[in-house]
Amino acid sequence: MALQQAAWMDVTFHVQTFGCQMNKHDSERVVGMLESLGCQAVGTIEEADVVVFMTCCVREAADVRLIGQVQTMKNVPLRKGSPVSKRIIAIGGCIGQRDGDGLFKSLPHLDVVFGTNNLASLPGLLEDVIEHGGRRAETLEESKAFPTELPSVREHAWAAWLPITIGCNNFCTYCIVPYVRGREKSRSLEEIAAEAKSYVDAGVKEITLLGQNVNSYGRDLYGKPRFADVLEAVDASGVERLRFATSHPKDLTDQVIAKFGTLRSLMPALHLPAQSGSDEILAAMHRNYTVEHYRGLIDKLRSVCPDIALSTDIIVGFPGETEEDFEGTYRLVDEIGYSQVFTFIYSKREGTPAARMVDTTPREVIQRRFDSLVEVVQKRAFEANQRDLDATVDVLVEGVSKRDSNLLSGKSPKNQTVHAPIPDGVSLESIIGTIVPVHIDEARTWYLRGTLL
Ligand code: SAH
Ligand code: SF4
Ligand code: F3S
Repeated sequence: MALQQAAWMDVTFHVQTFGCQMNKHDSERVVGMLESLGCQAVGTIEEADVVVFMTCCVREAADVRLIGQVQTMKNVPLRKGSPVSKRIIAIGGCIGQRDGDGLFKSLPHLDVVFGTNNLASLPGLLEDVIEHGGRRAETLEESKAFPTELPSVREHAWAAWLPITIGCNNFCTYCIVPYVRGREKSRSLEEIAAEAKSYVDAGVKEITLLGQNVNSYGRDLYGKPRFADVLEAVDASGVERLRFATSHPKDLTDQVIAKFGTLRSLMPALHLPAQSGSDEILAAMHRNYTVEHYRGLIDKLRSVCPDIALSTDIIVGFPGETEEDFEGTYRLVDEIGYSQVFTFIYSKREGTPAARMVDTTPREVIQRRFDSLVEVVQKRAFEANQRDLDATVDVLVEGVSKRDSNLLSGKSPKNQTVHAPIPDGVSLESIIGTIVPVHIDEARTWYLRGTLL
């Protein structure tokens, strides 16, 4: 029998999220499901009867950190008056999917494991262990449905993530994601459009379309709608700001590029992971494009939208990367002048093809390459921000600066963080979630500072 509604109402929970936006979005659904049962969300592990970890295994560091964190939880006492006899710990997300009930061996006090396809099972699994004790794991390979029918509590009222595909078919040789998120599945255009419309009706200002490779949207659907059609449909919802992530360079079409010049709501910012500036390494990564093709895309993007803010992901130290390969990467990053670059040191993931490749580059050499890349990234990001000095930009206000609560913090169309003093007589509540004009007085590497007009 199900736990009584009254009993659920006494249960507190906390969700801790790692990894990408897909996981963050899944966490919103976990919060939505547990709240709709009557459980109360709390801000800390100490206050929580149930702790859910939404995990990431894209690089090794995340794995190690999670195990450590779950282990230390043994020493955190349960709150006074808790309705459960022992704190319930659940691991979901990509580590849950990858390791399944194997996690019980290394973490004896773990109670529940659920996979990326099994979000909907979480309440039942929790209920089972609360009532009967023991441990439960569920990690099905394929989900029965797109997890979109589940209730969801959005982190911010003014911004929404909208998944258009789940899974990935690309199998880049270094990457674990296709193994833990399954094959690519697209949602119908009608469903996406309806969800966008419902967000706009609820006051959402910014929609970010999500997928591991949004550009391959629709290949599995009848009539093969394309990603450019999705952009049009979501723009038609009347949303003020539209963004998307992530784009694979091999599938970025001219039709999508053209939208940066024509579509009202599409923001002038694009994350286009290059991964490497060497054709040999790109081939070994199974990326299916060349550096020349990538540069060609950037040229086209800049011809339709000259001030577009570009960001990318780079992996340093892929097996077999030579000094010359790295120089190609350095040159690409230096020449393109990205607003932001997420730089990663290659991390071996068991089960991927790259894990079997010979890797002889010394750690110090990789670290030196990484450090020199970070230096040029910062230099170029600083320069990119100078273009907005003395400009007036529209800022979607998200809250206050972490370091100074007298400064509002928000995002420009190019996705830059913008800070500005909150003028006397203006309350944060009155402007949060709205778009306000800010004159930029100062441009730093990672943020702009200005005056609210
Ligand atoms: N689907 C997206 C994001 C994938 S994960 C895409 O294709 O761009 C985000 C980033 O993590 C990747 O772009 C890649 O740069 C990095 N990454 C993935 N696997 C990695 C690994 N084994 N080692 C280091 N970085 C990795
Ligand atoms: Fe991983 Fe490549 Fe798929 Fe991105 S496109 S999730 S890097 S396999
Ligand atoms: Fe990490 Fe899974 Fe996303 S491995 S990057 S949380 S898809």
